[in-house]
Amino acid sequence: MNPNRFDGRVALVTGAARGIGARIAATLAERGATVAGADIADDWTHEPAGAAHSRHRVDVRSAGSCQDLVAEVLDRHGRLDLLVNNAGIVRRGPAATMSERDFTTVLDVNLTGTFRMCQAAYPALRAARGAVVNLGSTNGHIAVLDTVGYCVSKAGVLHLTRVLALEWAADQVRVNAVGPTIVPTDMTTDVRGDAAYLADKLATIPLGRMAEPTDVANAVAYLLSDAAAMVTGQTIFVDGGVTIH
Ligand SMILES: NC(=O)c1ccc[n+]([C@@H]2O[C@H](COP(=O)([O-])OP(=O)(O)OC[C@H]3O[C@@H](n4cnc5c(N)ncnc54)[C@H](O)[C@@H]3O)[C@@H](O)[C@H]2O)c1
Repeated sequence: MNPNRFDGRVALVTGAARGIGARIAATLAERGATVAGADIADDWTHEPAGAAHSRHRVDVRSAGSCQDLVAEVLDRHGRLDLLVNNAGIVRRGPAATMSERDFTTVLDVNLTGTFRMCQAAYPALRAARGAVVNLGSTNGHIAVLDTVGYCVSKAGVLHLTRVLALEWAADQVRVNAVGPTIVPTDMTTDVRGDAAYLADKLATIPLGRMAEPTDVANAVAYLLSDAAAMVTGQTIFVDGGVTIH
């Protein structure tokens, strides 16, 4: 059996309607997984083709919504092997003036939302000896200006990943994270439109370019796959070398 393939396995990807999540869903489907995509949005730009896959609605700010999603996936597909916590938001602005609402909303979606989904999926993942990948960011490892809530939420995601990996190792459930640098998606449309910001950002990336959604999806697929059977609690930075200097 090819350790890079997911034939017979069911994957759940949050934030799958567009951007990085849509590419992750497509990559897992291309490698044989049945993919359940979930999002708060109704306008999906991309999703895996084929009747085997399914589309769901979730708001990761609600524990009940996360539990309902997992129940729907189990009802539809009978099992859940792989979870990708990709749903995320950003709010930009200086820490001195960022509203408490913006700060806590980002934490609620990015960090607590990831925790809620992991909790909701845990019984099914335990039964399947499954795997989780959480979307972190370089901003969770290095301090970046004007994104205090986002940076803190992603630092939390990276440590949540380690804690869950430790707690769930006895169940043979692996938990890992990826940490991309800037990726050209809707999330970064505003800052990519600022030529000076983009030039400064690219100057911090030794490989000299943004990460593409495919770069991120390939790392996610590796961490979910049997090729990574001995890897847990880790973060792969898909960052062209940002975090090495
Ligand atoms: N784009 C980047 O530069 C970048 C870099 C590092 C990490 N990331 C992370 O990658 C992930 C995907 O980002 P993206 O760039 O594709 O962003 P995006 O804005 O294009 O897509 C995010 C998706 O999450 C969904 N979402 C938002 N709130 C939700 C909620 N409460 N419940 C369910 N779904 C919700 C949105 O509807 C959207 O479809 C995020 O976790 C983000 O923080 C992105």
